[in-house]
Amino acid sequence: MKEKIKKLQKDLLKIACENYQAVLLSLVVTILAVFLADLLYQPKTMLKRGYLIEIGSDGKALPKKVEKPVDLAELMKLADVERGAKIFKKCASCHNINKGEGAKVGPNLYGVVGRAKGSMSGFAYSDGLKTKGGVWDRDSINQFITKPKDYISGTKMAFPGLKKPQERADVILYLEKNK
Ligand code: HEC
Repeated sequence: MKEKIKKLQKDLLKIACENYQAVLLSLVVTILAVFLADLLYQPKTMLKRGYLIEIGSDGKALPKKVEKPVDLAELMKLADVERGAKIFKKCASCHNINKGEGAKVGPNLYGVVGRAKGSMSGFAYSDGLKTKGGVWDRDSINQFITKPKDYISGTKMAFPGLKKPQERADVILYLEKNK
């Protein structure tokens, strides 16, 4: 009986040993397979680092693309008088727009499109505006309200300007309708 148990124990140990080897082997195979798959399958995505510099035919870097000048006529086609009225609220703190109303901080803008620059009687314009000359048309108003002090140096219009071209077109349309 003792002998039998001893033999059984030996057998069991042997089986365990063999299984242990099998488990180890399959582990090694799995690791190898993963490693191989990794080698074979290399995703082609490459991260671009830095930034591209375009190079001209002479090998020198090209200057950065200049922003396209916006075509006012095109913007005027898309202009909306309702939007213009809303944007004009920014101007309304300084400007009246209705006929017969007086000046506020700035002159009344009723009928300003087509009006001679600096021509509201009784308003104390800056020298820059007084001597600018000509008539306010779409283009000059557009330039002025882009950045007033760039268009007329020393202007009294303390307004930074409207950055968005479409907003300027909208407000110009609104000014045109108010005459
Ligand atoms: C902070 C006050 C203020 C705001 C805001 C303002 N303006 Fe003026 N604006 C003035 C003043 C002051 C003048 C006179 C400028 C000068 O004499 O140099 C003027 C002049 C003008 C003129 C010339 C009028 C003329 O009779 O020659 C136009 C056009 C004009 N503004 C349009 C606008 C529009 C459009 C807006 C809004 C997008 C606007 N302004 C916002 C104060 C303002």
